[in-house]
Amino acid sequence: MKVLCAGLVLCVVVSSAFGQVALTRGPAVCRVGPTKAKIQWKTDPASAGAVEWGSSPALGNTTPATGAIKLHEVLVPGLTPSTTYYYRVLANGVPASGTFSFRTAHEPLHPFTRIAAFGDSGKANSEQYAVASLLGALEPEMVLIAGDVIYPEGESSDMDPKYFVPYAALLPGIPFYLALGNHDYETDCGQPYLDNFCLPPSSAGGERYYAFETADVLIVSVDSEFCDPGGFVCSPFWVVSEQLDWLEATLAASDARWKVVFFHHPPYSDGSHGDNLVAQIYLVPIFEEQGVDLVINGHDHSYQRFSPLVDGSPDPSGPRYVVAGTGGNGGSDIFPSPILEAGIEGHGTFLLDVSGNQIHCRFVSADPGSFGEVLDNFTMSKGPTTPTLALSAEVSPPGSTPFLTVSGEAGEGYGVFFSLGTGYLEVPPHGVLLIDPMVGGFLFSGTLLGGGALHALPIPPTPVLNGTRVYFQGAATSTEPSVGGLWITNVSALTIG
Ligand SMILES: [Fe+2]
Repeated sequence: MKVLCAGLVLCVVVSSAFGQVALTRGPAVCRVGPTKAKIQWKTDPASAGAVEWGSSPALGNTTPATGAIKLHEVLVPGLTPSTTYYYRVLANGVPASGTFSFRTAHEPLHPFTRIAAFGDSGKANSEQYAVASLLGALEPEMVLIAGDVIYPEGESSDMDPKYFVPYAALLPGIPFYLALGNHDYETDCGQPYLDNFCLPPSSAGGERYYAFETADVLIVSVDSEFCDPGGFVCSPFWVVSEQLDWLEATLAASDARWKVVFFHHPPYSDGSHGDNLVAQIYLVPIFEEQGVDLVINGHDHSYQRFSPLVDGSPDPSGPRYVVAGTGGNGGSDIFPSPILEAGIEGHGTFLLDVSGNQIHCRFVSADPGSFGEVLDNFTMSKGPTTPTLALSAEVSPPGSTPFLTVSGEAGEGYGVFFSLGTGYLEVPPHGVLLIDPMVGGFLFSGTLLGGGALHALPIPPTPVLNGTRVYFQGAATSTEPSVGGLWITNVSALTIG
């Protein structure tokens, strides 16, 4: 992500220098799909808006101008998946923002993405700003907020100070996806939330609940207000029934490898709110029946990682539940139950690195004294992780020839990719995260005959290579006709020198 202005204040200064109408909000990229995205911004007074965009900073394309309005949501169509695009906003035909970039969503054959998720953020306090700063360092491809986006009552007047300003450095390049929390419902049953945020609507529920896919992951945002005491005022039974039907059908219809659901009220929590029994009764059976892998909630202001559960008991075949109400609001105590695997009282973000048939999950702290530290990590795996890669040496001098061994089941097709270390993040104990074969180079491929395959890796005798770190990762296809798709191997790293 290239953010060419540091925040809303600076953006406004830049846009003022360019034209007659200044942006009073944004820009923010939203509803980013594989082939289209929207850009949202606000001007006051109203202006005719357009987006100038392209695959390089030279831009070159311009969307049709809107009428004179204040809050703009402009569609940028005709994009290519997994591709970086650049844009700037025009107001009354004049450039009104700096130039920003975003990346389009991924199709299933590109099963790599990084997702940050937390809830209970909209306080405009130092903790919310600290989490925003952490997100800037972690560079997720999207952010999920599991409700209570705007405290205390989800009012329109709080949208800028408690959302658009704290995340101003992120919103131009990273799409945020939200879920409604009980505090967001306090004003007009959440109408300001619907009016101000740009989310991918579902045909059944509009922006109150919706689903989308990227990188072979189905992500579902649920409106869990009906789980709140008194929630029936805004969510009468027929509205809830319609959503539950939609949820079940949406999960059943998706053939994505991973199914992740996020919403506010946690079915399982060892925080002060405790287990939400309404969510357990109405939502959990659908998750269990439809093969949901991960459920992310807020409401309690702590991080809690539960076992995979079926009917409330540990069972590796069930969904895993994580509470991450750690986005800014005050911390709350944890009272550990036997199904709690990890609990952290603090602020930060839950982070998912999707890598084919594995998701590496972490909780990263944003608190003073532990900022950026990984306080919890675990890996979710689906299906086999073969073949595996192993190097004959971890360090090899220029001119040497280490070997890379590929091991797995006979008959598996495999390919191995590599990339230089530049630009990648190495976080112990997971090694290198978000290895991306679309960016790296293709090394070799073949079919395993059994027992593994050995490949020589001749390193040029060039002293300038000293210190270079090269990462290898493989992709494999199954020999089992019933197990389709791409599996991603472990990462092997080699230091030259
Ligand atoms: Fe809440």
